[in-house]
Amino acid sequence: MRIIAEQRDLAGLRGCVLVPTMGALHAGHTALIRRAVEAARGARPVVVWIFVNPTQFNEQADFQRYPRTLSPDVGLCEAAGADAVFAPSVDEVYPPGGAAITPAPPAQAEMGLEDRFRPGHFAGVCQVVRRMFDMTRPTAAVFGEKDWQQLQVVRAMTAQDKLGVEIVAHPTVREPDGLAMSSRNRFLDRDQRSRAGAAARALCEGAGASTAGDAEGVMRGILEGSGLAVEYAEVREPESLARVEPGWRGPGRALIAARLGSVRLIDNAPWPG
Ligand code: PAJ
Repeated sequence: MRIIAEQRDLAGLRGCVLVPTMGALHAGHTALIRRAVEAARGARPVVVWIFVNPTQFNEQADFQRYPRTLSPDVGLCEAAGADAVFAPSVDEVYPPGGAAITPAPPAQAEMGLEDRFRPGHFAGVCQVVRRMFDMTRPTAAVFGEKDWQQLQVVRAMTAQDKLGVEIVAHPTVREPDGLAMSSRNRFLDRDQRSRAGAAARALCEGAGASTAGDAEGVMRGILEGSGLAVEYAEVREPESLARVEPGWRGPGRALIAARLGSVRLIDNAPWPG
């Protein structure tokens, strides 16, 4: 497997199936890589993008403490069947003095969900995704459903700007108690970790409610009951992420975000209604 840091070394990898990540890889990411290997069918190279993108962090402290674990990450990529890891520097992605392309984020980026609590986040995501597509020229890119709003934003931007990249979605990979795997879970202490399973439980119980308003009440109750500070717990239209009436019967997507100490947990699931 090749490890690349500069765009000029990507020459033979054009037309790849790309797996965009910020590193600190876990079983959720490796599932995406295996999905990419399947999609590539041996006919296209699979490239894992590892880059902690400074422009999408709305808190400097979060950027600073974001885990950087390149050498174990490379081992995981190889074991999952990737052909190359592309881990560029900040200057390689955003050349000093270069004209930065800042695509206009689609409507999905301003829906009062993640965008409300992370101002500027999706502008940074759109910027880096646009830049990585320009640099790597993939035919397809695999994204996780774990970041549902991000998935919808990337899909909409790719269609809107006619980027010609197929966006492949992969379901969320979870711990045995249902907690969605995340690079930030390592910051949970023992007590917080034991309460974090409430996020998945809330989605599960919410799925049994018959109206969107009832589901929201059930989810909020479970999260608050476990001492999580709720940022949002909502049912939305799955692709546009439009708000729905309390009496709406779906099907939709349930999305939650809650804080446990300094860690933000985000999760989502289908809401059958
Ligand atoms: P990162 O948080 O590293 O996530 C990389 C990809 O892995 C995303 O598509 C995310 O949805 C997916 N992922 C994370 N945890 C997952 C899990 N438990 N199950 C399934 N998929 C999971 O998302 C980003 O990086 C960045 O915003 C990026 C798109 C790379 C742009 O910088």
